[in-house]
Amino acid sequence: MLRRFRPVLMAGSILLVAFASSVDADLADNTAADVVMYRQLLMKSLDVHMAGIAALVENKIDYWGHARAHAEAIRGISRDMPVVFPHWTGPDAIETQALSSVWKDWQAFRSSSAELTQQAALLVEATGSIDRRVFQLQYQKVRETCDGCHSAFMKAD
Ligand code: HEC
Repeated sequence: MLRRFRPVLMAGSILLVAFASSVDADLADNTAADVVMYRQLLMKSLDVHMAGIAALVENKIDYWGHARAHAEAIRGISRDMPVVFPHWTGPDAIETQALSSVWKDWQAFRSSSAELTQQAALLVEATGSIDRRVFQLQYQKVRETCDGCHSAFMKAD
């Protein structure tokens, strides 16, 4: 039984190794401290764009001209998010709020990141809707995606 599956397993691990090294290759010349600093900046910028959208959704600001730009920024930043999480930047190597589950459960982490890109794309689309409620509901979906990833992969304060 095991023998029959071995070639498949081997092919799987070769693919995994190839994927892991292609992800790391982009940042190979950077220090772990700089990579963590940079991904935390990206996260903070997501937070600021979400706060900008919240101000619109909660009717604190009656100017919707920037709604699309906020949504596009979230979509763009979430794309390739796993690239800024190379395996040598985990909590055993450096101070970070990322949990080791990011790398133990890499596929789920990647799916969560892809989910954010998808939900943010729908938010970009919703900026074209005359019905503000469509945008508001989609904003909640994006919020839930942030929170979902954080509860699985980020240290609680
Ligand atoms: C795929 C998972 C994932 C998604 C999706 C995600 N985050 Fe994060 N976020 C993390 C991880 C992991 C950290 C910890 C990073 C570190 O400390 O190295 C983090 C950290 C943060 C931080 C703290 C940054 C700091 O100052 O240290 C903020 C704020 C944040 N995220 C906001 C957001 C917002 C807003 C969204 C949604 C628009 C979002 N995140 C989506 C995984 C995710």
